[in-house]
Amino acid sequence: MGKLIFEHSGEEQEIPEGDPIASACEEAGVPFACTEGVCGTCVIEVVEGMENLTPFTQEEKDFLGDQGTERLACQCKLKQGRVKIKF
Ligand code: FES
Repeated sequence: MGKLIFEHSGEEQEIPEGDPIASACEEAGVPFACTEGVCGTCVIEVVEGMENLTPFTQEEKDFLGDQGTERLACQCKLKQGRVKIKF
């Protein structure tokens, strides 16, 4: 089990390794719209553990441009370990 941690609340959600983070994010209040990496509604900032997320999808590269600390929550899966985000 990996963990997704929400910086603003300290809330932690367990996520099976290899699973998308979208539903845990949605429960925590991240807004979603297209769920396909096109609209940018679900943008989150990764505070810690970027290496524990799957690589940027083409949709994320197209929407976000530089591969910095922002991700699209509808596009990421948790590989392993802990990831801390804020939104
Ligand atoms: S919900 Fe549209 S980009 Fe994620």
